[in-house]
Amino acid sequence: MPMLTVEGSGAFEVPEGKRLVLALEQDARIDVLHACGGNARCTTCRVEFIDGEPRKMTAAEKSVLKARGLTGIRLSCQVLCDQDMSVRAISRLEGSGRPDPGGAPSETITPPAEWV
Ligand code: FES
Repeated sequence: MPMLTVEGSGAFEVPEGKRLVLALEQDARIDVLHACGGNARCTTCRVEFIDGEPRKMTAAEKSVLKARGLTGIRLSCQVLCDQDMSVRAISRLEGSGRPDPGGAPSETITPPAEWV
C-alpha cells in the first residue's frame, strides 16, 4: 500500500488507488476542504507536493488550474494514491471561515478521469 506523508501530521498507509482527498480526510484525519465535492471546480482541495507528485493529471484538473493561473499545487480530488507521496495540506477547514469542508467526494474521480 502506498505511504502518504503529510507534513506535520505523520505518515499513513493508504489503499492503493484511493483518491488523495479521501486519504487526507479519512486516513490522515486532515480537515482538507473540498467545497465542490471533489469535482475539479473549486480548487479548495489543493495541496503542495513535497515528493512523489504524480506525472499524470486529469483533463479537468489541468483545465481548472490553467483557467485560474495556478501553479505549484495539485488538486487532491484529482489525484490517486498509486505511489508513495508527501504533501503539505495547505487548504484546511480550520481558519477558513467556512461552515464545513464541502460535500463528500465520491470514491472515484469525478468528473470521470480522462488522463493527460
Ligand atoms: S476542486 Fe473542488 S474539491 Fe477538488
